[in-house]
Amino acid sequence: MKVTGETKVIGIFGYPVSHSLSPLMQNAAIEALGLNYIYIPFEVKPEELERAVNGIRALGITGVNVTVPHKEAVIPFLDEADEDAKLIGAANTILNKNGRLIGYNTDSPGYIRSLREDAGFDPKGKSIIVIGAGGAAMGIIAGLFSHDASEIIMANRTIEKAEQIRVNYTERYRHKSIQIKTAPLSYLKDPRILSSVDLIVNTTSMGLEGMAPDVDFASTSPHVLISDIVYKPAVTPFLKQAQDAGRKTLGGLGMLIYQGAISLEIWTSQKAPIDVMKNSLMPFLTR
Ligand code: ATR
Repeated sequence: MKVTGETKVIGIFGYPVSHSLSPLMQNAAIEALGLNYIYIPFEVKPEELERAVNGIRALGITGVNVTVPHKEAVIPFLDEADEDAKLIGAANTILNKNGRLIGYNTDSPGYIRSLREDAGFDPKGKSIIVIGAGGAAMGIIAGLFSHDASEIIMANRTIEKAEQIRVNYTERYRHKSIQIKTAPLSYLKDPRILSSVDLIVNTTSMGLEGMAPDVDFASTSPHVLISDIVYKPAVTPFLKQAQDAGRKTLGGLGMLIYQGAISLEIWTSQKAPIDVMKNSLMPFLTR
């Protein structure tokens, strides 16, 4: 990679940011496309976020990804946010369009693309259980609604959080005939509910700590798809239990790659090289 006076700068704001795989994946894509861009990690403390966002304008940075813990906090500092970012209340991508900062949420379409491309699953008309009610769940539910899922059941430890999302999304998607319900985690052991579901997605962070929501996989349909958004380990305890019960699974790697691919497309207007991005990550995910 040759940095010249014309090189455009993109990057990622996070705290911490050192664990992020995005610089590796994005620079591999930039190199494969022969673009004169560079993708840089920026460690931004929460109290410096506003100044850092203003720095995008001041320095003429083309755009950045935004990761934990800034995805929600960044919204008020932007000039504009697209519909998904507004609804979800979180942006993971900023584009600097002639000094105007526009926020996008590419986690949401990234998950849908992974469902389609990696698992051959089209959410249209499907009945889906989403476990968790945090920022990740909101992004995924927005994507499932936009792609015409017929029923979404949100199962969460804190039912009030799920209920709040239900109220907001029912209002936002009132023009669509989609049902959204909330349920306690104990429903994940109820055969009457599990047997008719097409997809169960775990959006909780439990897999990172070696834990899993308690689902009675034996009561699910043999055709169900079981998905987790955690990408390391590639097979989380949740997915392992599903596989042991003979169910198909989808890990979080595809979502990571596609959210990055969509961000790169927003900044450069070039089609992202998915295979290059995926291959760049392999050594870091298997060790
Ligand atoms: P993110 O923005 O990444 O989704 P989050 O907002 O912290 O992260 O949300 C994490 C989700 O995982 C929440 O739904 C949380 O449940 P609560 O709403 O009850 O807090 C869920 N979660 C995390 N650890 C959990 C655990 N040990 N058992 C059950 N749910 C858990």
